[in-house]
Amino acid sequence: MRQVLLINASVRSNISISRELAGMLADNIQHDKSKVIHRDLSNDVHFISEQSLSAVGKPMAERNAEDDAIARLADACIEELEAADYLIIGSPIYNFGPSASLKAWADLVARAKRTFTYSDSGPVGLLQNKKAFIIAVSGGTAVNSSMDFMTPWLKHFLAFIGITDVEVISADGIYGTDGEEKIGLAKEKIGSVMIESTS
Ligand SMILES: Cc1cc2nc3c(=O)[nH]c(=O)nc-3n(C[C@H](O)[C@H](O)[C@H](O)COP(=O)(O)O)c2cc1C
Repeated sequence: MRQVLLINASVRSNISISRELAGMLADNIQHDKSKVIHRDLSNDVHFISEQSLSAVGKPMAERNAEDDAIARLADACIEELEAADYLIIGSPIYNFGPSASLKAWADLVARAKRTFTYSDSGPVGLLQNKKAFIIAVSGGTAVNSSMDFMTPWLKHFLAFIGITDVEVISADGIYGTDGEEKIGLAKEKIGSVMIESTS
């Protein structure tokens, strides 16, 4: 069965454009043979801390309840990534970069020998054969402009963990006079996304 991991990084729950667009894409590529796993970063993420760094490496018997909760969350986020054939990341631009929760997610899933390793020639991503869609939404910042540090960072991070097949669908500058038009164009692109059938 094909697995889709839908990650939402907006802090807004109801009126979020990135959530709406990412959800549309998940519906569009969801066939009978797909399962969508949802990771909502506005609910469940842990910001990196001294405790979180040590918790994931501690033997079970040495963990306290908080260590255990952090380690389980990090493990779950990594397992979801490993199992996914497709990733859809609904990502707003906040202060020219990713949301703090998306950065926190990256800090949780970047784990040596699980999602990346180092070779003599540099880092090697361990997550193979996956495709990611980034749904990039901004109020004014043009995606891929010199002011956009979210999209290049996220593409770089995904490549670091092995995911190099990445398609960006943007609705940027949605607070401009042509904002609705831009959202409409993003919806059209989402409607035309085709993925291989697994049957
Ligand atoms: C804390 C914060 C910072 C933001 N910073 C930017 C920014 O740097 N550039 C920009 O174009 N829009 C910025 N915005 C606007 C959001 O990108 C815009 O509201 C977008 O629609 C958010 O995605 P959402 O609709 O999925 O919540 C910011 C919004 C918030 C809440």
